[in-house]
Formats: sequence, structure tokens, C-alpha cells
Amino acid sequence: MPAVVLVGAQWGDEGKGKATDLLGGDVDYVVRYQGGNNAGHTVVIGDQKYALHLLPTGVLSPDVVPVIGNGVVIDPGVLLSEIDGLAARGIDCGRLLISANAHLIMPHHKAIDKVSERFLGKAKIGTTGRGIGPAYGDKIYRVGVRVQDLLDPGILSQKIEAALTEKNQILTKIYNRRGLEATKVLDEYLGYAERLRPHIADTSLILGKALDEGKVVLLEGGQGTLLDIDHGTYPFVTSSSPTSGGACAGSGIPPNRLTRVIGILKAYTTRVGSGPFPTELLDEQGEWLRQTGGEYGVTTGRNRRCGWFDAVIARYATRINGVTDFFLTKLDVLSGLERIPVCVAYDVNGVRHDEIPMTQTEFHHATPIYEELPGWQEDITSAKTFDDLPPNAQSYVRALEEMSGAPISAIGVGPGRTQTLQIRSLL
Ligand code: IMP
Repeated sequence: MPAVVLVGAQWGDEGKGKATDLLGGDVDYVVRYQGGNNAGHTVVIGDQKYALHLLPTGVLSPDVVPVIGNGVVIDPGVLLSEIDGLAARGIDCGRLLISANAHLIMPHHKAIDKVSERFLGKAKIGTTGRGIGPAYGDKIYRVGVRVQDLLDPGILSQKIEAALTEKNQILTKIYNRRGLEATKVLDEYLGYAERLRPHIADTSLILGKALDEGKVVLLEGGQGTLLDIDHGTYPFVTSSSPTSGGACAGSGIPPNRLTRVIGILKAYTTRVGSGPFPTELLDEQGEWLRQTGGEYGVTTGRNRRCGWFDAVIARYATRINGVTDFFLTKLDVLSGLERIPVCVAYDVNGVRHDEIPMTQTEFHHATPIYEELPGWQEDITSAKTFDDLPPNAQSYVRALEEMSGAPISAIGVGPGRTQTLQIRSLL
């Protein structure tokens, strides 16, 4: 009864889609457990490239049941257009299950996300503007609208009325925007209800039974460890728990049923949006990484901030998530460098820190202490096994493994499905 969690070990965009896809053939259920359409997974199959935001990547494998867990916030319009987009390319989403307890992103969440960011000015988070934070805010505040409310028009109408009575005051009086009409919102969401009804299910029950029957469940996190609401670089974080603990809360699968925690680790570091990033490169080296690695956001198209590998972050991810294995992605991007700096610790006002400093203020002042590792010139994109890698690439992987504190069990050497070196099984 393996239940395997895939979690981003940095600030998201580590290439989780590729890892999910690698396991696709052996997996029965793929579950998204948090986040919403702020995420973006790119999966390349043959000459086809798929960018998924809300649907679990398992949707691309015909034998997998894709599940949107209770911890996700769902924009139903976006979900349906993603389903329709895949249908137009011959991919059927009929198997999709959606937790009745997941929360819905409502039009006022999107409106408030955008205007509140503008209000913050220089202190803005740099959100994706998809309504994620306001939807989770309402969930915690206990005034959210859930997927199951779509099944009861009376309740849905009451909840929308109640929400807009308050939110329209906020939109008009604080932010000087137009309010939203409850009847229009209700009509829109009743339309979604019709199409989503066949997918709505008690997903934690289904997953519990599946594990009892020995099925393989893969839990797929969006974003990454350092964007976690509790364990990330708060307040420059997302509003959910991408870390492995969040996988349990967001799916209804208890911690003692998790069998593996796979951290997805990019061979260098990227971040989108505001917030501290000690190894960020603001020079042409950063631009080189961005261009070579194609580091442009799948969701917003924003340039990703780029920098060298940060072993302090990787060690932290190992500890917070209980990482049992790492999947190292995008190693091929580093080919051609003479030497590759790796951050092994931080200097904060003259004091060495081997762990992330306790306070936000210290972290904002952390500067990297680098060790330089020898690079390699060879193209590694057609390597099939670890032994095919040039010796310096092997040493780079071994050094990262040592510094990060968990074995690297798979390595991505290119975007394609087959460009993965598997060192040991991930199940
Ligand atoms: P939100 O999730 O839209 O509220 O954005 C909060 C922060 O998380 C911002 O810095 C976003 O850029 C970042 N973020 C959200 N989703 C992703 C992702 O999938 N990859 C990388 N950063 C993300």
C-alpha cells in the first residue's frame, strides 16, 4: 500500500511534473493536495508539451485516477477550461475525482487578490493573482464556499449572498472597486455545478480503501517547501502547506500510511515573486541560467529569479519533509560551466549559519558562503545511466547528495519523458 509524496524542495518549479510522470506507469491514483491554479506543471510527452495548473499530472496517463484533494482551492472555470483543452487534444478527464470538501475560488477572491497586492505597493508578495490567498483566508475564517455546496443551490445561494454582503463592502469602500452581483455569480457557479457533478466524491474514503487494497497512491504537491505558509519564507509564501505534513491534511491520508517522501530538487535554484533568496544572481550569470534553463513561469510567464544551488535550503527541506529520496532535475542546464558554486552556509553579519537563520530579518541579510565544484563540458542529455555522466557531473551529484542529507534516486537530464536516470526505485 505505498503512499508516496512528491514535494518541491526549494521555492517551487523544480520539475515535479516530470517526476510524477516517471512514476505514472506504476501508480493508480495521483492526488493534488494543496494550492490551486497558481501551480504550473509542464510535462513533455513525445513532441507534445502539456502545461497543467490545477489537474494532477496523472490525468495524462490513461490508467491513473487523478484526484483533486480537499486541501486544494479550485477555480471551477479554470478547471473546466483545462479539462476542455485536454479533451481537444484527445485526453479524457472522465476519471477525475474532486473532493466534496475542497474550497472554491470565487470571483471576489480574484478581485481582492489583485487589488490588495496593489495596495501593498513595494511590500507586495508578488502573488499569481489567482485568488489563492483570499480563498484560503475564507476557508480558515470559516466563510468559504466548498465544492459540495455546488450540489445544493439553496445553500450555494445563501453562501454567495453572505460572502458578497461583506466582500462588496471591502471592494467598494476600501479598494474603490465595483462590487459583484450575487445573482450573476450564482448563475455562473450553477453552470459549473452541472459539469462538475459527476466528478465530486468523498475522496479520502476512496483513497483509504484504495490503500487497503494495495493500490499505489502518489500525492503531488504544488509550489515548494520554502513557499509553505508555516515553514517557508513568510510572508513571501503561498497560503497552503506544500510540505509533506500538508499532504496528509490535504488528502485525508494519515501520516502512518506514507511510505516515501520524494523531494524534487533543481540542480540550481529559482524563485518567482518577492522575498529573500540568498544565492540569487542579478548579473549575466543569472540571465544565462534563466535562458539556458528556460526559467519563465508556466502560470504567469514571469521571469524566474535564478541562482546557484543552496545546500542550506536542501538540508532544511530534508528535515521539514522527512525526505527519503531526492529527484534532482535539470542537471543538463549546468553543462558547459568551468566551475559551479554551491552555497554551503550563510554569513549573517559576520556569523556563519549552517541552518536557515531563525528570524526573517537575519534571513534577509544572509549572504552565501560558496564552495566551487568543477564543471563538465559534455552534453549529458542522452545519458541513460548514472555511469554515462562525465566524472565531474557524477561528483556534483554526489556532493549535492552529501550536503542535502538524503539519497538522490533519480536525475533529470532533459525535458523529455525518457531523459531521466533512475538510480533506485521511487516506490
Ligand atoms: P500565490 O500562491 O498566488 O498566493 O502567490 C504567493 C507566492 O507564491 C508568490 O511569490 C508566487 O510567485 C509564489 N508561487 C505560487 N505558486 C507558485 C508556483 O507554482 N511556483 C513558484 N512560485 C509560486
